[in-house]
Amino acid sequence: MQYENSLAFAQKMDAQDPIACIREEFSIPKQENGEDEIYLCGNSLGLQPKLAAQYVKRELEQWASLGVKGHFSGDFPWMPYHEFLSQGFADLVGAKTEEVVSMNTLTANLHFMMISFYRPTEVRHKILIEEHAFPSDHYAVESQIKFHGFDPEQSMLLIKPRKGEQSIRDEDVLKLIEQQGDSIALIMLPGVQYYTGQVFDMKKITEVGHRQGCKVGFDLAHAAGNILMQLHNWQVDFACWCTYKYLNSGPGSVAGCFVHENHHHDENLPRFAGWWGHDKMSRFKMENKFKPMNSVEAWQLSNPPVLSLAAIRGSLDTIKKAGGMVKLREKAIILSGFMRYLVELELSNDVEILTPSAVQSCGSQLSLAVMIKPGDSSERGKNIFDAIEKKGITGDWRYPNVIRVAPVAQYNSFEDVYRFVEILKTAIEQY
Ligand SMILES: Cc1ncc(COP(=O)(O)O)c(C=O)c1O
Repeated sequence: MQYENSLAFAQKMDAQDPIACIREEFSIPKQENGEDEIYLCGNSLGLQPKLAAQYVKRELEQWASLGVKGHFSGDFPWMPYHEFLSQGFADLVGAKTEEVVSMNTLTANLHFMMISFYRPTEVRHKILIEEHAFPSDHYAVESQIKFHGFDPEQSMLLIKPRKGEQSIRDEDVLKLIEQQGDSIALIMLPGVQYYTGQVFDMKKITEVGHRQGCKVGFDLAHAAGNILMQLHNWQVDFACWCTYKYLNSGPGSVAGCFVHENHHHDENLPRFAGWWGHDKMSRFKMENKFKPMNSVEAWQLSNPPVLSLAAIRGSLDTIKKAGGMVKLREKAIILSGFMRYLVELELSNDVEILTPSAVQSCGSQLSLAVMIKPGDSSERGKNIFDAIEKKGITGDWRYPNVIRVAPVAQYNSFEDVYRFVEILKTAIEQY
């Protein structure tokens, strides 16, 4: 792609963008001056699709007018409502519909998956995670290890980048698995790293992990709705994701979960059960003998919150309107490539891009480390971040010096990206 450093070029790219009109499907927050914010925070909380608002409103109306009969009435009855999301989720992560379900929240699902897939023995008791995993994942893993009577000091295997590097090299992950594989019970890594935006080679990690007899699961919080995946073909054992980032389904919205069909009929797999995991044909006989569903739905516990599912349905329909994940990923690569080009061209003396540059290792997020040079205030990065916020940028700040920004294919334009870099440049010159 031949980029140019000009507003005219950005506007030309927007004019040629076949899915530019999808931005209209979102409510974009406004600045005080009435202009749209330059919203680059979809890696944290995605914007509201208008369809999500419409579908939630519709379920509120159903509830008001039908009460309990809403479980069985209308085009989208509540009883099977989660099933209306299965195709969208399956397309999103590359799965069969019976391998995906919406339930609980992300950390809760990681725990429920570990109950099934972390089966430590004296010999094989380790969980491989990253040293700087998202804290919730770290806590979940640590507490699971303790729950099984093992010592996290011995059983948590932490992988980190090489000294002086920002990302973990795939080759280092694979080598560690090969070296220590016979003591690793579970590999649990992110699809996309939350801090750097690095995409992990999930296919290869699963392949090598399985060769060593490990179970392999992924936290897809930053991957779902961002990059393309083939969880079924890659033979991933399980995966969990939240729906409030690139899936634009609202704060704290219900999470997604994938369990490979290889495990659906394994009666030896322990599972914490609830009534929604019981065979739906006999669920309401209210008997005490648990008969699991023949799919990932066996892991469901409770009847799910329909208002949240309605928002997810709105989001999935919006993705469909855009032509699906392949189209979105095509745009995302060009859009984040444009941001990288401008930052490298304009700001390379002051900003280091932590996110790997290879297309297959980078999603929609760029993590920009503001350089602190001798004589600079240690607050330089934060001051710059505050200054760009005042100019209408919504991004995400991580101490000590990182600004995370996500140009999202669904609602960000090339002009957003161009204006962001201009505003950042002005703030950098100021501090
Ligand atoms: C990588 C990752 N894991 C876990 C979580 C925790 O998610 P939840 O609060 O939905 O359990 C987050 C939240 O942002 C996250 O980014």
